[in-house]
Amino acid sequence: MSDVQEARASFTAMTNADAADYEIITDHFRSFSKGLADRLLDHLKLLDGDFGGFPIDRLQHSLQSATRAHRDGKSEDYVIMALLHDIGDTLGTFNHADIAASILQPFLDEELHWIVKHHGIFQGYYFFHHIGLDRNLREQFRDSPYFDACAEFCEKYDQNAFDPDYESEPLSFFEPMLRRVVAKPRQSIYKAAQE
Ligand SMILES: [Fe+2]
Ligand SMILES: [Fe+2]
Repeated sequence: MSDVQEARASFTAMTNADAADYEIITDHFRSFSKGLADRLLDHLKLLDGDFGGFPIDRLQHSLQSATRAHRDGKSEDYVIMALLHDIGDTLGTFNHADIAASILQPFLDEELHWIVKHHGIFQGYYFFHHIGLDRNLREQFRDSPYFDACAEFCEKYDQNAFDPDYESEPLSFFEPMLRRVVAKPRQSIYKAAQE
């Protein structure tokens, strides 16, 4: 373990911490934040073998979504948004879209963040009527400038990404893209501490 990783601040409550303590903590944060891509890859792998009754497991669904977006010429940010859009399935049992949206918010523009945050309700257009819900719940967002973009994501890269015969790229194909997209936040109050 390096000296940086072994160093510890000495305060017992934040009220008696000083700048030197936070220099130590900021050093830790710098190396921790560099491991985000690895943690995301590990977490995506939790979706491997998790079918939830669907025709393909959630990792294959994620890869198929990202592959379809990539083959359609979507941007790298878009492809990674597609890859991670369901990463919250394991912890956000009742709000999975919010998990991916929160993780990706520092790295995406407003439109892509809006898409991933709202994809759960927009995806409902394709199945809510089968479970006694209103498939048009998405209509409450009709006035959003991103309505069509979110509808397009669900139509072209989400609701149709359950085909067991589709040949998706493997996770390793997307790994360099993922590393680039999450390398540096565009917006975060902790951005300065990462630099
Ligand atoms: Fe989803
Ligand atoms: Fe999905």
